[in-house]
Amino acid sequence: MAKQQFQSIRGMYDLLPEQTARYDAIASAFAKGAANSGYGRIEPPLVEDTAVFVRAVGTETDVVSKEMYTFTDRSDNSITLRPEATAGVVRAFIEHGMTSLPQPVKLYYQGPMFRYDRPQAGRQRQFFQYGVEVFGESASSIDAQVITLAMRFFRQIGLKNISLQINSLGDEVCRPKYKAALVDYLEGHSKQLGDDDKARLKTNPLRILDSKDPKAKVVVADAPQLLNFLCEECQKHFAGVLEYLDSLGINYELNPQLVRGLDYYSRTVFEFYGERDGSQSSLGGGGRYDALVELLGGPKTPAVGFALGAERVFLELESAGIVPESKSSKRVYVASLGEPARLAAFALIEELLDADVAASGAVDRDGIGSQLERANKLGVPYALIIGQKEVQEGVVLLRDMITGAQESVALDAVVSELQKRFQ
Ligand code: HAM
Repeated sequence: MAKQQFQSIRGMYDLLPEQTARYDAIASAFAKGAANSGYGRIEPPLVEDTAVFVRAVGTETDVVSKEMYTFTDRSDNSITLRPEATAGVVRAFIEHGMTSLPQPVKLYYQGPMFRYDRPQAGRQRQFFQYGVEVFGESASSIDAQVITLAMRFFRQIGLKNISLQINSLGDEVCRPKYKAALVDYLEGHSKQLGDDDKARLKTNPLRILDSKDPKAKVVVADAPQLLNFLCEECQKHFAGVLEYLDSLGINYELNPQLVRGLDYYSRTVFEFYGERDGSQSSLGGGGRYDALVELLGGPKTPAVGFALGAERVFLELESAGIVPESKSSKRVYVASLGEPARLAAFALIEELLDADVAASGAVDRDGIGSQLERANKLGVPYALIIGQKEVQEGVVLLRDMITGAQESVALDAVVSELQKRFQ
């Protein structure tokens, strides 16, 4: 029988040790920033009842109508691999009675999401998001604070030139009026629209505002703008968000065409962009969704949040020439030559690990040269070398892998010496 070789599913990729080390570094920067701001971590399951996403995200969105991984399980229940986390977090918020906790309830998450879209650079079928959700607070300051949380994260990982686009989608009072005016206008120009946008005119007219079709862009340029239709409350709210951002000197671009691809938003919506060009350049986005908790069966609860796409953050880091520091930079390699150094090296690795110093080494391999070459490939800053002479003298050679300088250190002092250097 011919040997069969398997590959990962299209649009889903293995993360190999070098990548996971970088992922972990960035994920922990995000987690630290969220925890500092008073967020607790929540991790809902990767699958939910299909209805959770249909209800929350909306039947007429691309995410629900084209991109969900939906299965029938063995009990005939329709379940869906989560295309995003907000719906599941809201479901959990209601299910666990978090509505009766002191508000606001601030939650963050990080994990894989699944969308059956056409894969390309920055667009995968399994991708990773970092996100936050805040429940129970309608004040504009919270919208501004979730935005500054994301901006701080970008700065902390070295991305300095992130731009912010922002808009307000109004609420259930003013949006229907805008929608009617928009449909009226678009119907008058429907001959100029492509087939997809013509269909959207019936199902989800607001999405035509951010259509990629150049024909639609021409029509949309003169369309009525939502900001001119905001009711007084929404206007005040949006002005408040901008005032907070202004007070911190955070630059933003008002984008009246920004509508986002999920139906649950109301009022503030925003997206983050890096310096890379390309249609998949949105690093993340979010906004307010004051009606969603109620829509999923909970009490009326205002909420706001965002999610960032890890793969896009990594593409941005790469094009900025930034390599996130991975844990392996605080590692030591132990090289040994001959008996009885072999046993001494074996014991030293254990001693280092017991003392929480990352250490490895191939104690029964020959050739110091090839062992040091391996240490070099691993990118360790130090190697410890033990030969017969060192064992006899109770010392070990501590080699700086960058400069090549070596010094002799007492075997019983080397663990604390490394701990000091790795601080
Ligand atoms: P979203 O805009 O659908 O929002 O996704 C957020 C980010 O996830 C995108 O900006 C992008 O960076 C990344 N992303 C989305 N799809 C893909 C894909 N196929 N491949 C790679 N990256 C992707 C949400 O998911 C909302 N739940 C955000 C939110 C939280 N709103 C309020 N709270």
